[in-house]
Amino acid sequence: MRQIKIFDTTLRDGEQSPGASMNVQEKLALARQLAKLGVDVIEAGFAYSSPGDFEAVKTVGNEVEGPIICSLARAKEEDIRSAWEALKDAPRRRIHTFHSTSDIHLKYQFRVSREEALKRSVNMVKLARSLVDDVEFSPMDATRTDINYLCEVVEAVIDAGASTVNIPDTVGYTIPSEFGTMIKALHEKVKNIDRAVISVHCHNDLGLATSNSLAAVLNGAGQIECTINGIGERAGNCSMEEVVMALRTRRDLFDADTGINTEEIMRSSRLVTKITGMSVQPNKAIVGANAFAHESGIHQDGLLKEKSTYEIIRPESIGLYSAKLVMGKHSGRHAFKTKLKDLGYELSDEEVNETFERFKRVADQKKDIFDEDIEALITAGVAQVPETYSLVDLSMICGINQKPTAAVKLKVGGGIIHRMEQGDGPVDATYRAIAAITETKSNLLKFEIKAITGGTDALGEVMVSLEEDDRSVRGHGADTDIIVAAAKAYINALNKLAARKKH
Ligand code: KIV
Ligand code: ZN
Repeated sequence: MRQIKIFDTTLRDGEQSPGASMNVQEKLALARQLAKLGVDVIEAGFAYSSPGDFEAVKTVGNEVEGPIICSLARAKEEDIRSAWEALKDAPRRRIHTFHSTSDIHLKYQFRVSREEALKRSVNMVKLARSLVDDVEFSPMDATRTDINYLCEVVEAVIDAGASTVNIPDTVGYTIPSEFGTMIKALHEKVKNIDRAVISVHCHNDLGLATSNSLAAVLNGAGQIECTINGIGERAGNCSMEEVVMALRTRRDLFDADTGINTEEIMRSSRLVTKITGMSVQPNKAIVGANAFAHESGIHQDGLLKEKSTYEIIRPESIGLYSAKLVMGKHSGRHAFKTKLKDLGYELSDEEVNETFERFKRVADQKKDIFDEDIEALITAGVAQVPETYSLVDLSMICGINQKPTAAVKLKVGGGIIHRMEQGDGPVDATYRAIAAITETKSNLLKFEIKAITGGTDALGEVMVSLEEDDRSVRGHGADTDIIVAAAKAYINALNKLAARKKH
């Protein structure tokens, strides 16, 4: 059985989703989870593009063990040297360089001839190879490139030292039969093809990214580039969970599999949602809330008799367990620590203590605590920032004939500041009071609220997106009281803005 490599680009192409930018700590937290998931390569960013991305590639490269860590670089000397600077201390590293090859891009965007594009590509692969042993090259917009020229470029970059050649469907234009034929043609026409792994990188503009990637596997591709939840530029990239589960479920047909530890899929998906603020649509394959929900009576009847009648994937195989009652307010630290281990989390003693404190506060308000609640408490602690502001107290008057009024007390520096404000609703009043105390003038771009589990005592989770002086950040808060959760999310985002200003 062939082993297909999984190249995860959630931290690079995924981050190109509008509003999904991540800071270094967030990228590090996600990269650690990707390592647990068992991806082969993590594209941690584009080192030359910004100091933040440089730092992220460097930090992930130095601190995350297991996968190869990669930086993207245009076929330009300054990009390649920057990727090398960021990766030079990483034990396992790759430089991924690219140049467009389609006539449309060469003529209108780069204004260079095919010969010049080929020359630049070869020279930059050689430069990258003089710095690292593992070099990947992508002929951008490959699916709209003349096939004979594409073969010429692929052969030349392999001769120049590229050990992976990635074929991107940059604009999500191809369809499975056409893409399969292209991958097959490359294998037939490029003389030195056996000296490189052929990778594919499909965008989802026509909703075909997963199908196109699978067609490529059937025709010899050995690496798939993808992102968790399929996030990425425009309509996104091939979704990792879909392609991995398709290969696993239909091993009989593909005669291929990946090294992914599929039980980490749900956890990875939730972490990406939490960090990027991009929720997954309920009917999304594999990780959507309805992916395993059977509504029809006929289906339910079949399932009760024999699961395989209507279930092609066991939910547990992707780490999805039905809400389990786990703990209550009398549970002790030891039981809590064991529970974290059962859920697959390896936290430091300090993180266990912080999460336990959060757990105790919730347990005082909520009788039954489920696995999902505990997961939310853990992710609430991921990539935390220093607390310039913290919530001390919040009380609220609202009702049908009441003007909503919030009284908020925040700790700011060494002191406590108190403020009462009215608004159009309880959240509006609370946010006005917080803005007045913190003397901030950010714009609220997005406000999302959801219940983590069922029941009227469920933990509510709020995600906000704020913008101030062209900086945008996301904040999260979870609490049994949704107004408190909303206040926590807003304060979390303000703390991030404050940390950025200081930086
Ligand atoms: O979509 C694309 O072509 C890319 C390349 C940089 C690989 O993201
Ligand atoms: Zn892309």
